Amino acid sequence: MDGYVPFDLPESLRLGCATASAQIEGNETNHSWYEWSQVREHIADGASSARANQHWDKYEEDLKLMSEMCIREYRFGIEWSRIEPENGVFDDKAMDHYREEIKTMLRYGIRPLVTLHHFSNPLWFEGMGAFLNPASVEIFRRYTAYVIEHLRDLCSEYVTINEPNVYFTNGYVYGTWPPGKKSVFKAFRVLRNMTLCHLHAYRDIHAAYGSDPVKVGFAGHYRVFSPMGKNPVYALEAKVMKYLFQDLMTSAMSTGRLSFPLGFSSPLGKGPFLDFIGINYYTRSTVKHFHETRRPGRPENDLGWEIYPQGLTELVRELYSRYRAPVWITENGTCDKEDRFRASYIYNHIKEIKDNDLPVERYYHWTFIDNFEWAEGESAPFGLVRCNFETQERTIRKSGRFYSEMIECKGVTPGMIDEYL
Ligand code: BGC
Repeated sequence: MDGYVPFDLPESLRLGCATASAQIEGNETNHSWYEWSQVREHIADGASSARANQHWDKYEEDLKLMSEMCIREYRFGIEWSRIEPENGVFDDKAMDHYREEIKTMLRYGIRPLVTLHHFSNPLWFEGMGAFLNPASVEIFRRYTAYVIEHLRDLCSEYVTINEPNVYFTNGYVYGTWPPGKKSVFKAFRVLRNMTLCHLHAYRDIHAAYGSDPVKVGFAGHYRVFSPMGKNPVYALEAKVMKYLFQDLMTSAMSTGRLSFPLGFSSPLGKGPFLDFIGINYYTRSTVKHFHETRRPGRPENDLGWEIYPQGLTELVRELYSRYRAPVWITENGTCDKEDRFRASYIYNHIKEIKDNDLPVERYYHWTFIDNFEWAEGESAPFGLVRCNFETQERTIRKSGRFYSEMIECKGVTPGMIDEYL
């Protein structure tokens, strides 16, 4: 109980949760992550994305549970491979499925925030080089136009692309994610095309909504990059890594101005190209020799990621002062199999927002339910709800109850501190 004090949530802050289609839906074999997960060495525990949470069939049960947990803000993904199973061929039935899912959310009073792209590509798109191919920009625009045409009457908030920086780093620099390439040169071509996709999608979605209200942004993955110790060389390395990983992407996607090594122009003219600053925040990176290293004596989650709530304040302040738009924490959460520290992780991160009076309007906890955690497979539980993947049974974790009470009570009470922290 030490160090925990009751507090009220800021009036303007709304709490919700986030998921991604390829991580929860299951039963889909037409996307890049399915193919990638069929190779044993690609996934820590050998799990296939085809199992996941079977959410495609169980969405009603999941949304009911979400509503029982008082969650009223939900960020989730539309799976491109279902909507456009072949190049230029759209599946109205799949779209109807999402429409039904969204209608169910609305019946529960849950506001949808739709992600158009969250790491997974249709196989036909992957086969043509995905975002390495300059044609990807028009293809992504066509997909976006189709989705917007079908969701315009139900939704008014969109994330175009989730974490282009994690996508290009893992897929094209480290080669640990599909398509398994290791070429910095290709990585920047991918980022350039993804940026163009976002800029066009931003403009196209606004054009489609006309004078009706709509909010569009992208979700970047943000880290605090700190040098190990006081070595000025590591400090310089940390700056370079930060620039290449997140600053370059953020500036290009927010302002529309490409800078080195993406180019030197504003292909769509002057921005802004965002209605909210989407921040996915998990941890701090400690840099030594251009690599991430562990900082001794610091708390870590099950994956060895440092737990550093102050980082949220640093990043929100920096990004808000630069881009001046409402801040939405589009993801924040932790891997904690035993559910030992998730409640305090949530407490500490939300308390940062409160204590520092950060201009944050939304906080989407990552994630609702344990899922197919990309290269970690089913071995890295981030959920407020536990999933038994064999039986598909869902159980609200203690931290899930904490979060739910926090929403219901609009803050943290002394009783909650006694019970959960
Ligand atoms: C991604 C999620 C992922 C989470 C935890 C984020 O970078 O957007 O899809 O599950 O991190 O690893």
